[in-house]
Amino acid sequence: MSKIFDAIRQNGFVLIRDALPPPSTFIEVYKAFDGVAKLMATDELASIILEKTAIDWAKDLRRSGFLARAPMGFRDRSIRPDKAKKSYFQYASGYGAFVRANYPRLFSTYPEVDWLFANCEILSEAAVTILRPVILEFERRYPGLRRLLIREQGFPPVVVRLIRYEPGSEIESMPHHDKSAFTIHMNSDDATADQFVIGPWRRELELSDLKPIMSRANLRRTSDAVVFPGMFLGQMGYEEILPSPHAALGSKDARLRHVAVGFWLIPFMFTDHLSTNIPLRGVA
Ligand SMILES: [Fe+2]
Repeated sequence: MSKIFDAIRQNGFVLIRDALPPPSTFIEVYKAFDGVAKLMATDELASIILEKTAIDWAKDLRRSGFLARAPMGFRDRSIRPDKAKKSYFQYASGYGAFVRANYPRLFSTYPEVDWLFANCEILSEAAVTILRPVILEFERRYPGLRRLLIREQGFPPVVVRLIRYEPGSEIESMPHHDKSAFTIHMNSDDATADQFVIGPWRRELELSDLKPIMSRANLRRTSDAVVFPGMFLGQMGYEEILPSPHAALGSKDARLRHVAVGFWLIPFMFTDHLSTNIPLRGVA
């Protein structure tokens, strides 16, 4: 019986130790992300060009469809009053190569963009290196899954998402499932590291079913990857592979917080109809 499979079924996730880049890589990627967020707010030309890279990328379905139409680039959600204040940067190797080939001056003019893309590429490669053996392990139990997820040509269908939370909200991401085959939670710079909570799949879920994985005492947290299934494989008929519910709780910290996550998608899967929200028992 597979250890990875059993851990996921029992706990909702598996921890993979000593496989991620060092903490300094994450410190650098968050700094670059902050630099680009500032650029987006203060430099109109840079923000127009960076937005255009994502729009141009998405025009071609061979590119964006391959990544299940996950939007690339920077998105600011911090201005919506009804939502937790957060912004995103989404990256994939193919998007990085596309932008470098078509917008070379973006990188020579704005070092923070160059730095952000370079560090996201490192994270993307790490996510691929860690998730590939997980997929191969699942393939032993579910033949065919590998062919669905791994194309021998081109870049892997992996998206890196950086999230930046502004201080102040109680729950930053309500309990949800991910639009992914597998998700890898790589790092966060939380002060107490207990904002991220997760559990195994349940038909009826209460928030208290979700537990933090890492405590402050566990200072190895930066080198532990948390891997868990999203919704896609269940949708493709692998009904035993259930998505793990998880949430990001808020913090009273009066500072920005950052998270780095990776998603292994299913190439050309269209997912607009899928809902990721989970109704909580006892909550209207
Ligand atoms: Fe998620």
